[in-house]
Amino acid sequence: METVTNILEVKDLSVSYTVANVVTHVLKKVNLIVPRGKSIGLVGESGCGKTTTMRAILGVLPSNANIENGEIIFNGSDILKMSSNELQEFRQTGAGMIFQDPSSALNPVFSIKEQFLTSIRYAHKEKNYSSKELYEKAIEALKAVSLADPDRIMNSFPFQLSGGMRQRVCIAMTLAGEKELLLADEPGTALDVTIQDQILRLIKDLVDSHELSVIMVTHSLGVIRQVTSEVNVMYAGSIVEGGDTVKVFEQPKHPYTMALMDCLPKLTGTSIAEGIPGRIPDYDNPPVGCRFFPRCIYALDQCRNEIPGQTLIENGHWVACFAAAEGKVWRN
Ligand SMILES: Nc1ncnc2c1ncn2[C@@H]1O[C@H](COP(=O)(O)OP(=O)(O)OP(=O)(O)O)[C@@H](O)[C@H]1O
Ligand SMILES: [Mg+2]
Repeated sequence: METVTNILEVKDLSVSYTVANVVTHVLKKVNLIVPRGKSIGLVGESGCGKTTTMRAILGVLPSNANIENGEIIFNGSDILKMSSNELQEFRQTGAGMIFQDPSSALNPVFSIKEQFLTSIRYAHKEKNYSSKELYEKAIEALKAVSLADPDRIMNSFPFQLSGGMRQRVCIAMTLAGEKELLLADEPGTALDVTIQDQILRLIKDLVDSHELSVIMVTHSLGVIRQVTSEVNVMYAGSIVEGGDTVKVFEQPKHPYTMALMDCLPKLTGTSIAEGIPGRIPDYDNPPVGCRFFPRCIYALDQCRNEIPGQTLIENGHWVACFAAAEGKVWRN
């Protein structure tokens, strides 16, 4: 296959959920690019749609979700136009995911060995490896993620492993399947800090050594700085600013990013209410124009009715804000 520069391009992705006949429009025209072999970050307060974005990319949205619009181009092909066989293949060979809740990542009724071998047998189906060879590949990958006693792990069921071990198993499956993209949804957040730190270091090493491409969802400013080269800031289902991590952090342009940067280290609760008055709008009746409009002290008239497009501020840094585009947003 011809190699394309960006392993993933999400274009104008809109997703809604339906609960008891009420439609909530969660993602609104999300645009996201993952350059090959790079690790990019996705940040934003709780409920802004990060997990929804990740699940949409992997094609594992819950059944009450509807993709209303958009394209998800992986290695040049639109995932949303794939047949169920192609989608299955993409999940087995293209991308792996570390779920926010480590208990939802592995199937509880099958042993690690069964799940691991099924997954990598599929990924390497052209090579016709014997079961023994596949087993060895699995062991090698478990060792690569620093899991001691890989044979015991292979013979365990998910409930017999700790949360950190389960997340490592998921990373090992991504590695052994030679997948190119890892979707890491708050890896380690449910675990204690030292384990979280080890998992992050591991992901960083894999980006460097295996040219893995990663989307990292996290609440931690430190993690984003340490692990990603580009960052995307999400607010109420839209990406409001993005670009080179250092530029976005040092010179944030969107009023939301500015507030977020001020309180990101403690952003584990439900809102950034301390930093900006108000809260995320209701998704069943979101603002017509910019979704940040009701909370924005810089809002212009047009923000009420029009959704701002992306404006390039400088090379490798863009913002979706009418006021910032006109230079009317500044920090004291
Ligand atoms: N299965 C579902 N059915 C209905 N609504 C859902 C479903 N899953 C998510 N949502 C809604 O979509 C919105 C975005 O949720 P999502 O899990 O994507 O947020 P998030 O950014 O990952 O938050 P967090 O940082 O807390 O993990 C929320 O308002 C949530 O209630
Ligand atoms: Mg989430």
